[in-house]
Amino acid sequence: MVCLGNICRSPIAEGILRHKIRDRKNKVVITDSAGTSDFHIGEAPDARMRKTAQKNGVDISDLRGRQFVKSDFDEFDLIYAMDQSNMDNMLRLARNENDRKKVKLILDEIYPGEGREVPDPYYGGDEGFQHVFDLLDEATDKIIEKYID
Ligand code: 4NP
Repeated sequence: MVCLGNICRSPIAEGILRHKIRDRKNKVVITDSAGTSDFHIGEAPDARMRKTAQKNGVDISDLRGRQFVKSDFDEFDLIYAMDQSNMDNMLRLARNENDRKKVKLILDEIYPGEGREVPDPYYGGDEGFQHVFDLLDEATDKIIEKYID
């Protein structure tokens, strides 16, 4: 799960997915998140995102910001970008077609081919964080249905 800062959208995407599959013993799924920027390396998720997560029964307080690196293409089979700009940032680091194929826009799982983006809630109000949560709640349901169930 990849956004710009790795303190708002991608940690909640990781947190929701991790939460939903926590009791599955039949499959091992490694979940992680990163930012394409170096702005918030080592930081906990934004307090507003942590609060929204908690209100919705998901704990992301242990997560810490890190930057997306080329070797993530070797570590992960599916890499979800929260928006087009972060998708482009990752595609610039891709070494070959196999790397490029792994990168997808997360909302394409709900709205295939529409190119919709998870809005950046960083500079907005609290309602933006719940909207992000709701979008990613739906997208992670689709991902589980498609790849994990
Ligand atoms: P995120 O949100 O990409 O969803 O983590 C942002 C967090 C920080 C900044 C931008 C977006 N920033 O410019 O510091």
